[in-house]
Amino acid sequence: MDDRASIIGGIRSDRESLSREAFVERFSYRFLEMENIGVLLLDADFCIVEISVMICELFGGKRESYIGMPADQWMRSVGMQAEPFGRELLYGAAFRDRALHWAGGKTNRRLMLDGETLLRDGEPIGAFVLFRDVSQVLELEEQVRRSDRLKMIGQIAAGTAHEIRNPLTAIIGFMQLLNKALSDREMDKERRYVGIVLAELDRVNGLVSEFLLLSKQKESKLVLLRVEHVLKEIMPMIRNEALLHGVTVVYRAKSGAPPVMADKELLKQVFLNLGKNAIEAMGEGGTLTIRECHSPHDLGKICVEFDDTGPGIPVDVLEKMFDPFFTTKAQGTGLGLSVCQRIVDDLGGGIAVATSTEGTRFTVWLPAPDGGAQSPYDV
Ligand SMILES: Nc1ncnc2c1ncn2[C@@H]1O[C@H](COP(=O)(O)OP(=O)(O)OP(=O)(O)O)[C@@H](O)[C@H]1O
Ligand SMILES: [Mg+2]
Repeated sequence: MDDRASIIGGIRSDRESLSREAFVERFSYRFLEMENIGVLLLDADFCIVEISVMICELFGGKRESYIGMPADQWMRSVGMQAEPFGRELLYGAAFRDRALHWAGGKTNRRLMLDGETLLRDGEPIGAFVLFRDVSQVLELEEQVRRSDRLKMIGQIAAGTAHEIRNPLTAIIGFMQLLNKALSDREMDKERRYVGIVLAELDRVNGLVSEFLLLSKQKESKLVLLRVEHVLKEIMPMIRNEALLHGVTVVYRAKSGAPPVMADKELLKQVFLNLGKNAIEAMGEGGTLTIRECHSPHDLGKICVEFDDTGPGIPVDVLEKMFDPFFTTKAQGTGLGLSVCQRIVDDLGGGIAVATSTEGTRFTVWLPAPDGGAQSPYDV
C-alpha cells in the first residue's frame, strides 16, 4: 500500500468506528462554532437551549448567561427594536428569509433568519432559528446599483455642464471687466454688488466642476502615492474646519503601508468631503477619528476610516445619500458623496458605511497594486 492509500484507509476505518450519533454530535458542535451562520436552539418553553458563537459575538453577551433564558427576554436584553419572531414558532409558524437589520455599537449588519419547529411524534418539542449574515452581499449589490445610477447621471451631467460652463466663462469675464471699470470710477457701492455677483458665480462654477467630475470629463492623473501623504496634506484644512465646529480631530497614520494608484487631487477631494461630512454631522463638539488601516490579512487593500460621534444616519437617508443632489443640509449641494463614489469607483475601490446612534464610520478602500509588498515609490 502506498502512503496515500494508507492515509485514505486510515480515514475510512476511523469513519466506520464513529457511530452515526457521534458523527452528528461532532457536526453540531462544529456548526455552533461557525462564524458566518448563527444558531438559536429553543425548548418547548421557548427558552434557549443552545446559542452559537456567531450570535453571541454579534449581539454581545456570554453564552452561559443566555442558556435557559426565554428567547423573547433575550431579544429585548440585547436591544432588538422589534422581535423578529415569537412563540408561535413553537406551534408550526416556520419562516424563511425574514430580514433583520441590526445596528449595535458601530456594526451595522443585515441578517436573514430562518425558523423551524422541532417535532417528535407530531408534537412540538422546541424550535431553532438560523441567522445568516448577508451584509456583504447586499453591500455589493448596493454598490453596483449606485454605480449604474451614477453612470446615467454622468451622461446627463456631461452635456449640461458644458452648456453651462461656456456662457458662464463669458459672464465671469465681463463681470471682472465691469468690476475694474467701477473701481476706476470709484463707484464703491456698485462694485460691492458686482463682488457679490462674482462670488455667487464662483459657487456656480464650483458646482459645474463637480458636475464634470461626475461625468468623468476631467482627465485624471494616476500615479503611485501613499495615502498617508495625501492625508497629511489635507489635515490642516480638516483641523481648521473642525476648530470652527469645536470638533476634536484624531489622526492615526499607518506608516509603511503600500502605495495606491490614484490621482492625488481627486483623492484629496474624497477625504475632504468625508471629513467635512463627519464634522457637519456632529454639530458642535464631538470627535472625528481618521484611521489608516492596512490589514495583514488583506494585503491587496488600503483602508481609510472616518469615524464620527454624530447622531448616525437614519435608514431613509442611508438609502439615498449617494444619489446626486440628495442633501439634508440647507446649504448642501448633495454632490459630495456621489462625487466621492465616482472617484473611488474609478480607482477600483469602494466606500462602506456603518452607522448607529453612537456615530458613523465611512470606510474608503483602495486596491494596492503591489499587494502590500514594500515599494520603492514614495510620492
Ligand atoms: N457622517 C455623516 N453623518 C450623518 N449623515 C451624513 C454623514 N455623511 C453624509 N451624511 C448625509 O448624507 C447626505 C449627503 O451627503 P453629501 O456629502 O452627498 O451632500 P451634502 O454634505 O449634503 O452636501 P455638500 O457635500 O455639497 O456639502 C448629507 O446631507 C447627510 O444627510
Ligand atoms: Mg458633503
